[in-house]
Amino acid sequence: MLLEIQDIQVHYNKVAALKGISLKVEEGDMITLIGSNGAGKSTTLRTISGLVHPSVGQIRFKGQRIDRLSPDKVLKLGIAHVPEGRRIFPGLTAIENLRLGAFIRKDKQAVERDLERVLDHFPRLRERAHQLASTMSGGEQQMLSIGRALMSKPKLLLLDEPSLGLAPVIVKHIKEIIGEVNREHGVAVVLVEQNAELALDLSRYGYVLETGSIAIEGEAKGLMGNEHVRRAYLGL
Ligand SMILES: Nc1ncnc2c1ncn2[C@@H]1O[C@H](COP(=O)(O)OP(=O)(O)OP(=O)(O)O)[C@@H](O)[C@H]1O
Ligand SMILES: [Mg+2]
Repeated sequence: MLLEIQDIQVHYNKVAALKGISLKVEEGDMITLIGSNGAGKSTTLRTISGLVHPSVGQIRFKGQRIDRLSPDKVLKLGIAHVPEGRRIFPGLTAIENLRLGAFIRKDKQAVERDLERVLDHFPRLRERAHQLASTMSGGEQQMLSIGRALMSKPKLLLLDEPSLGLAPVIVKHIKEIIGEVNREHGVAVVLVEQNAELALDLSRYGYVLETGSIAIEGEAKGLMGNEHVRRAYLGL
């Protein structure tokens, strides 16, 4: 098992945001967390990446406890987080942003090779390599934040609302990119989305979060046929 979360609770100033969540990610897997605003999706990702620590429960990555580690230690173990709202460095160029994604790595030659690989993978970023990130479109910035995360050579990628605020045609493209990253780079993905249709279509397994708890879980295909999921999250 690559990642195992066992019954974690997270509190912000004594208010529970997660009330006992368990989930599993296998090597090379793609799972999704769907749910409405405030359900605890981002908090789950922030807890995995060490930005917040659970008050109860455990998180293991390749068998090792990580729930007390700092974010840089978690990153070094192979978990990269693309946060909500794509926090790229606006005053740096695309290529500078990508290189920063590899700041934890010492293997400089391999970093340059991976940079080429990421640029091959995102032709749009190669075209805009020397453009300031702040002047890039929303879709390009999303590609940049995913590309930057890949530069740390993660085993597990945490993606928080990658489709948010993007036009439908760009969403389709980002969706393809996420699928390719998972298949071709062999990177496992935890995908957080309000776009439940996109998320369930891409993922093997899904968890529906409601006010800090897992309301339903199951194979993504099954969830798409689930009456409650269809009504509450797929608008059918
Ligand atoms: N830094 C914080 N301080 C206090 N409360 C917080 C903080 N961050 C999140 N919360 C609360 O924790 C709960 C879960 O928030 P979270 O951001 O994880 O939800 P979400 O599912 O990602 O929602 P959205 O779809 O709106 O992004 C919410 O009630 C939120 O108000
Ligand atoms: Mg969120």
